[in-house]
Amino acid sequence: MIRSLLHVGMIVPDLEVGRAFYELFGLQARASGNDLVFRCQGRDQDQIRLMQGPRKKLAYTSLGTNQAGMAALTSSLRQAGVAIQGAPFDVPFGGIWFQDPHGDWLNVQVAEPAPASTETLPPEINAHGRYRRVGLRACSVETRHKKAKPLRLGHLIKFSPDVPRSVQFYTQVLGMKVSDQAGDVIAFLRGAAGGDHHMVAFAKSTHTGLHHVSFEVADLDEIEIGAQTLLRAGYRDAFGLGRHIGGSNYFHYIRDPWGSLAEYFWDIDVIPEDDSDWQPLVADSPKDVIAVWAASPPPEDFILNFEEA
Ligand SMILES: [Fe+2]
Repeated sequence: MIRSLLHVGMIVPDLEVGRAFYELFGLQARASGNDLVFRCQGRDQDQIRLMQGPRKKLAYTSLGTNQAGMAALTSSLRQAGVAIQGAPFDVPFGGIWFQDPHGDWLNVQVAEPAPASTETLPPEINAHGRYRRVGLRACSVETRHKKAKPLRLGHLIKFSPDVPRSVQFYTQVLGMKVSDQAGDVIAFLRGAAGGDHHMVAFAKSTHTGLHHVSFEVADLDEIEIGAQTLLRAGYRDAFGLGRHIGGSNYFHYIRDPWGSLAEYFWDIDVIPEDDSDWQPLVADSPKDVIAVWAASPPPEDFILNFEEA
């Protein structure tokens, strides 16, 4: 049923603090009513909506499906006894609204994800035995002036007080699929039509909240160009550079101004809709999914939930 991640809504105490962070991250801001909305350059799709409120909080996740998926979803919600409700926020888009087992709001729209910009393609990679960039430089003096240009919001990780319960709801009621998991501590879910290794993941905490939002960039350079730009501006480092096991993507996380994380990623595993060959990893410990390597170990507060209960 659920086929794509459209955007994420957050309540924050100061919209301009959010504007400064996400613009430097590489997104483009525009006003939408009383809110600030962010898009990737060259992509016709909202990715983050910041709404003014007293405390930082993940407000909702907006997901996409097709007509058939919407019909199946509404029937599945009815069967599960989940009420479809009026929009809980003053937002200018349609779709249905309901709450997951822990009270987190979900919006589902009949919508295809907008294509990401292909305006600037990264240089080909010269992997041994597959040299594809011959007679061309990958780097020049101009490369030093590159900026990170996020291509699309790829996924988010939500905190859950009961990861297995969340997995049960998002798979059985919303049609998502488990790609990998580690005990009852973390689970990675992809969409019903396949695609990225994870669209939503759940990490164990005492209460709900946003762990991170993650944006795809064009290459490894852009992960670090983006991260180093934010670090030079005084934002806090969180974890990276490294390469995950769950999803295989290269990553670098920076703390947003309220303690959640914003991740740049590149080279994630992709799973087809016909996924009969995919064997989910069922690990005992989050250590077995977190990283093949990283520049330094994850900090103590990497999976701390900074949102108030
Ligand atoms: Fe991530």
